[in-house]
Amino acid sequence: MRTGIWLMGARGSVATTSIVGALALRAGLTGPTGCVTELPELRGPALPAFTDLVLGGHDVAATPLIKRAETLAAAGVLPGRLVDALAGELAEVERALRPAPTGGTQAERAAAVGRDLTDFRDRHGLDRVVVVNVSATEPAAVPHPAHLDPAALRTALAGPDEVLPPSSLYAYAAFTAGCPYVDFTPSTGARLPALAALAVEHGLPYAGHDGKTGETLVKSVLAPMFAMRHLAVRSWSGVNLLGGGDGANLADPAANAAKVASKQRVLGETLGYVPQGDTRIDHVEELGDFKTAWDLITFAGFLGTGMRMEFTWHGCDSALAAPLVLDLARLTAAAHAAGRRGPLPELAFFFKDPLDAPTHSLAEQWALLRDFVAGLHRGGVDDQPR
Ligand SMILES: NC(=O)c1ccc[n+]([C@@H]2O[C@H](COP(=O)([O-])OP(=O)(O)OC[C@H]3O[C@@H](n4cnc5c(N)ncnc54)[C@H](O)[C@@H]3O)[C@@H](O)[C@H]2O)c1
Repeated sequence: MRTGIWLMGARGSVATTSIVGALALRAGLTGPTGCVTELPELRGPALPAFTDLVLGGHDVAATPLIKRAETLAAAGVLPGRLVDALAGELAEVERALRPAPTGGTQAERAAAVGRDLTDFRDRHGLDRVVVVNVSATEPAAVPHPAHLDPAALRTALAGPDEVLPPSSLYAYAAFTAGCPYVDFTPSTGARLPALAALAVEHGLPYAGHDGKTGETLVKSVLAPMFAMRHLAVRSWSGVNLLGGGDGANLADPAANAAKVASKQRVLGETLGYVPQGDTRIDHVEELGDFKTAWDLITFAGFLGTGMRMEFTWHGCDSALAAPLVLDLARLTAAAHAAGRRGPLPELAFFFKDPLDAPTHSLAEQWALLRDFVAGLHRGGVDDQPR
């Protein structure tokens, strides 16, 4: 199953690490550590093989991919020997990257993105192309009446207004070009009624939102523990310090607010109440792509006895995110091949703020994912358009 992965934000840290990782896996130069789809419980014939993956993408920046890879290698995010060994393959991916369209109406920009996707699919003889958004986090979308209905949206996009934020315009372009869409960011993406309807109309699955790679991953394990032991969480405060492009972008208060909202959802939905405390994200340039999260939790036990726990997480954001980008692309491609359309709540395991998630507990999300993938390997189609 020849599968294209089209990365929106293709020259960013997560995208570059995903590209180097996919090329290294394809060439047998590295192992699949961090790739959930290579666990014995999930591996199998329904998923495209690493050798079936072809990469491309859009970006507003023009920094050569090899330069981005060398910078990440110098920062210790990925091994420099892989960048040297894969220089030819990286040059090939460079030729598949396109500048994000600018100017004109949003309808014209969406059509230009759609043409790039179709050209990529045809040139490489791909069975399908999965579009993955890994571009900079945007502020929440400004509501517009055309967000409610595909026909109204089509008309509004042809006018002079900026009706959709870029992540949603990419989802629109993906769906109209017949491509499934994954949003690894907290941006609006396909989360608008008009886009949800469009995905179903075109028979396409989509997944999101916001890859779960650090503090929220730990929260989704610990919060169910407190709930299952009937302990009362009184406060949960977290401080995240990160550098890199994502950190710099999150210094913008509106993008920061979108990310913080996405990170806090797990507590209220798992515990059934919202404890005191906030999650903060601060930009510390010196940390580069390495993130430190520090959380303090106070809780009460039997007879009201107060206790506390704290944890510190030192993660390399792109090294944690990149294998999940590959997992999501392979799983969404397999879901599309199996005839699924609409949101994929079974992929909640990967996200901080999952679409239609029946649960925020990592263990329950894992069981859901395992059953879903077992169904894909058996060739089962479970079509649940919403
Ligand atoms: N690394 C993680 O663990 C993690 C986890 C969850 C979510 N994310 C999200 O993934 C995204 C990427 O993170 P990163 O560290 O690679 O950031 P980054 O700043 O290194 O990369 C973002 C890229 O997007 C490009 N871009 C910006 N606007 C664009 C547009 N309109 N169209 C096309 N490209 C555009 C930028 O030029 C840049 O190359 C962020 O939104 C981040 O919040 C990352």
